[in-house]
Amino acid sequence: MLSIAADEAHVLNLCTAPGHEGRGLGRRMLQALLKIARGHGAQRVFLEVRPSNRRAIELYQRSGFNEIGRRPRYYPAVGGREDAIVMAMELLPD
Ligand SMILES: CC(C)(COP(=O)(O)OP(=O)(O)OC[C@H]1O[C@@H](n2cnc3c(N)ncnc32)[C@H](O)[C@@H]1OP(=O)(O)O)[C@@H](O)C(=O)NCCC(=O)NCCS
Repeated sequence: MLSIAADEAHVLNLCTAPGHEGRGLGRRMLQALLKIARGHGAQRVFLEVRPSNRRAIELYQRSGFNEIGRRPRYYPAVGGREDAIVMAMELLPD
């Protein structure tokens, strides 16, 4: 899921069906979202991810996202709340 407003896009959700991870689907879905964002004139893309979600963080870093900040206590978690890492990337024209 992707939202686009003005020149900014936000990845709201990215999910590979359980049992199908690790086959390149997440990377392809993310590339498809970035292409859609570019096509709508977005110049940068943002997302939030749990610090505990190493697999997603790896995917985002390898795709060109960088950490730009944290949102404290953003996510519900077992026994409390978990911060969100905020990541962003600038979109260059194709
Ligand atoms: C995060 C998620 C979308 C990745 O999807 P996927 O289909 O497994 O991803 P891919 O197969 O395209 O792998 C892309 C990259 O993820 C990382 N990755 C994949 N499997 C990994 C693993 N077991 N451990 C660490 N990193 C891993 C690697 O960086 C990989 O790049 P590589 O292929 O060059 O090694 C998937 O794990 C998922 O749906 N997770 C649950 C939902 C979720 O957490 N979404 C993100 C919310 S912000």
